[in-house]
Amino acid sequence: MGQSFGGKIHLALTLLLLNLGSAVTRGDPYGCYGVPGLPGMPGVPGKDGRDGFKGAKGEPGIPATPATRGPKGMKGEPGSPGLPGKTGPIGVSGPPGYSGVMGMAGEPGIPGSYKQKHQSAFSVTRQTSEHPLKNVPVVFNHVITNTNHDYNTSTGKFTCKLPGLYYFVFHTSQTANLCTILYKDSIKMASFCDHKTNTMQVSSGGILLHLTAGNRVWLEVNDYNGMVGIGSSDSVFSGFLLFPD
Ligand SMILES: *[C@@H]1O[C@H](CO)[C@@H](O)[C@H](O)[C@H]1NC(C)=O
Repeated sequence: MGQSFGGKIHLALTLLLLNLGSAVTRGDPYGCYGVPGLPGMPGVPGKDGRDGFKGAKGEPGIPATPATRGPKGMKGEPGSPGLPGKTGPIGVSGPPGYSGVMGMAGEPGIPGSYKQKHQSAFSVTRQTSEHPLKNVPVVFNHVITNTNHDYNTSTGKFTCKLPGLYYFVFHTSQTANLCTILYKDSIKMASFCDHKTNTMQVSSGGILLHLTAGNRVWLEVNDYNGMVGIGSSDSVFSGFLLFPD
């Protein structure tokens, strides 16, 4: 604006000098024209111009020093496991285990002195000339041997107290036909019949029986009941435990 203003002033002065020169040269300085006026006052300043273009990019900044602390980083990966720790103290004992299976049988022991603790043996006789009643136990009323009183001379029955294998045997004298039947608990186990051919004759029979405690054994006769026990003609019933269980 200053230049523009100065330019206008310069132009106005130039025109003035030219007019003066011409007037002087023509020899008619103030013929019909007056004296030129004084220059006008300067005009008011113009408006601000538009903004200039954006400046060039500046130089790079100073690099940060290692001591400069940056922002906090992200959480890192877990580290590798450490070495095993020291062995701890011994714990308390656990409960007892289950019982093992039964072992094999051992060797046989050395032989001991034989003395059977469990004994059962009897021999009884019937001392009468009368024939016994039929189909009921024959009562042998006289005791020769009767350990533990296993044979009852009132009932005529042997009662097993010690289980095991028993042997029973009888020898009867007869004056008439005779059938002797051996019972075990009302079960007929053996029957021996002998028809009389002589004045006096003897018959016999025997049997092995396995008995349990409480079993009863006795002899009976049927219609042939000629059993007697007189003088030198006895009728004997015997039994004994052969092998205990
Ligand atoms: C024989 O049996 C009778 C009748 O059961 C009984 O009363 C008696 O006590 C028995 N005798 C013996 C020695 O067991």
